[in-house]
Amino acid sequence: MTTRRLVRRLGGLAFGGDYNPEQWDKAVWEEDDELMRRAGVNLATVGVFSWALLEPTEGHFDFGWLDAHLDRLHANGIAVDLATPTASPPPWFTLAHPDALPVSSDGTKLVHGSRDTYCLAAPAYRGAARRVALALAERYGDHPAVAMWHVHNEYMTLCWCDHVAASFRVWLHARHGSLDALNEAWGTAFWSQHYTSWDQVLPPRATQWHHNPAQTLDFSRFWSDEALAAYVDQRDAIRAHSDRPVTTNLMVPGYQNLDLWAFGREVDVVTIDHYPIAPGVDAAADTAFGGDRARSFGGGRPWLLMEQGTNTVYAGDRVLAKEPGEILRHSLGHVAHGSDGALFFQWRQSRAGAEMWHSAMVPHAGADSRIFREVTALGSALGRLGELAGSTVRAEVAVLHDSDSWWAMNSDGLPSAELDYLGALRRAHRALWDAGVTTDFARPDDELSRYRLVLAPALFLLSDASAENLRRYVAGGGTLLVQHFSGVVDARLHARLGGYPAAPLRAALGIRVDEYRPLGRGEQVVLSDGSHGTAWSESVRLDGAEAVATYTGGMLAGGAALTRHRFGDGHGWYLSTRLDDANYAVLVDRLLAGTGVGPDLPDLPFGVEAVTRHAQDGRRWLIVLNHTADVVPLPAPGHDLLTDATAHELPPGGCVVLRLP
Ligand code: GAL
Repeated sequence: MTTRRLVRRLGGLAFGGDYNPEQWDKAVWEEDDELMRRAGVNLATVGVFSWALLEPTEGHFDFGWLDAHLDRLHANGIAVDLATPTASPPPWFTLAHPDALPVSSDGTKLVHGSRDTYCLAAPAYRGAARRVALALAERYGDHPAVAMWHVHNEYMTLCWCDHVAASFRVWLHARHGSLDALNEAWGTAFWSQHYTSWDQVLPPRATQWHHNPAQTLDFSRFWSDEALAAYVDQRDAIRAHSDRPVTTNLMVPGYQNLDLWAFGREVDVVTIDHYPIAPGVDAAADTAFGGDRARSFGGGRPWLLMEQGTNTVYAGDRVLAKEPGEILRHSLGHVAHGSDGALFFQWRQSRAGAEMWHSAMVPHAGADSRIFREVTALGSALGRLGELAGSTVRAEVAVLHDSDSWWAMNSDGLPSAELDYLGALRRAHRALWDAGVTTDFARPDDELSRYRLVLAPALFLLSDASAENLRRYVAGGGTLLVQHFSGVVDARLHARLGGYPAAPLRAALGIRVDEYRPLGRGEQVVLSDGSHGTAWSESVRLDGAEAVATYTGGMLAGGAALTRHRFGDGHGWYLSTRLDDANYAVLVDRLLAGTGVGPDLPDLPFGVEAVTRHAQDGRRWLIVLNHTADVVPLPAPGHDLLTDATAHELPPGGCVVLRLP
């Protein structure tokens, strides 16, 4: 799992994007060759949605057009990230195999006309996907242009059809062993759901009221495994004919149909697609959130930004443009957090089709445009950063991130709609980012002792083993902050009895929660230290811990809201409400100060980011990004690789990459 081979082949960081020449003609290809050279592109992702051209009729492949493009790119000095086209089956496929079409949870069968119209569990689809991957690998496995394989595109679709039901039963049988065990795990004694034969068991299709939460959790686990198996099918077909690294582009941060930790173990290089969901400084924080997750999914190794938009910021019901300079700054943001390059969707903005308004490296206006000039500037900037390739990012703080907890928190019937897994994760990361601290994500069952501070903002589901792992972490000297409604269910999504959270964690925290009290919308609780909480409160009984702040009103008045417990060599903190952002930041700063964790570059103003990349041989680079509109002096001058000169300050929106002595 490393970019080593790729960057050696490219001679530095990767730069380029999805290239779909099949949408254009020869005159445009010739211009593409020239513009790619001018921009410094060295990697093009080819063929992502080209199934209909590659296999015009079932089992008959036409490689002529692809041969020509790969040869042309190669002659132009551009390496290829060759994709399997399986995210968009052609119309002939869906007509020939209607049983392989996806069915939504309400029973609606979807048809072709968009993309992603397949069911991952349908044998006809899986067979066809493997066949086209194999055909590509046999033909291009040793092609000199091919530097990497790109399987599929963003495994993110779901299906509830009969093939899925059959596969789900097989998966459940393997997990639970017997129908009795399944009944027990799913708590089917409630609402007369007891199953007496396997064929009664279904995926969680549209039903009358709440789904059984254990059933939906198992379905999420199953689906992620199914998607991973579909990836592994293609990967192994490719590996039989090619020694180039294989990946699939993961989608972060919002889509949560996959256990990205599991994918991180199976890809040769973690690659992600990232489109910021807010403008300005928030986009930079979101970039860091995506990058830190990508790095963590790959176990800390360098990863690759496979897609971003040159001029795309998704903001609810509209797509905002990027400000001048953001193409470079967002890209360097990804590099700062460990990406060995920056690629885009897509090279040339489509003139027709569903994504014709999506930004690209060459916009509709052509090369004489701000966008293309900024793209070219980025290409030359990345060209000067080749020495960073393969270096890594180090963190002393981790935020716990667990797919089971996320999926479980999506279940029906939770006591408050304000229990938001992703929101809690983002808030924790953002508080650390605002404090200038580089953050890893970790799983609750990971070895955590290398972290001085661990935040657990949303650990709804906690297995016995993970609870014990967290207890051990604190006992061994770690500082752990656990937040409300954590550790309240076990791995089967059964409530913890006798008080929350799970017993080993109660010991580490020195508390016992005997009642949760969700707050009304807009309702606020005031704590004794003057801070405010919303959404949630709890009755916390002290069992060794001290109350750092108490509730000041209502039924919980005088009760502990924030606690600290000296346990073994470490400290367990518990926060039983959702603090306002500013109060939460104060708490996080206090924990950072208490554990001696600081920013890579202290005393930077708000909105200026600094991250260090470390090479194995001891070389280091400090990437400093000014997301503000002010001139920011550097604490110490340094040699900036971007300008090959000594930098003393950052202009508004500016970036430097300093080679550290
Ligand atoms: C990505 C996808 C691309 C394109 C892009 C638009 O998620 O992989 O094919 O659709 O979004 O933002």
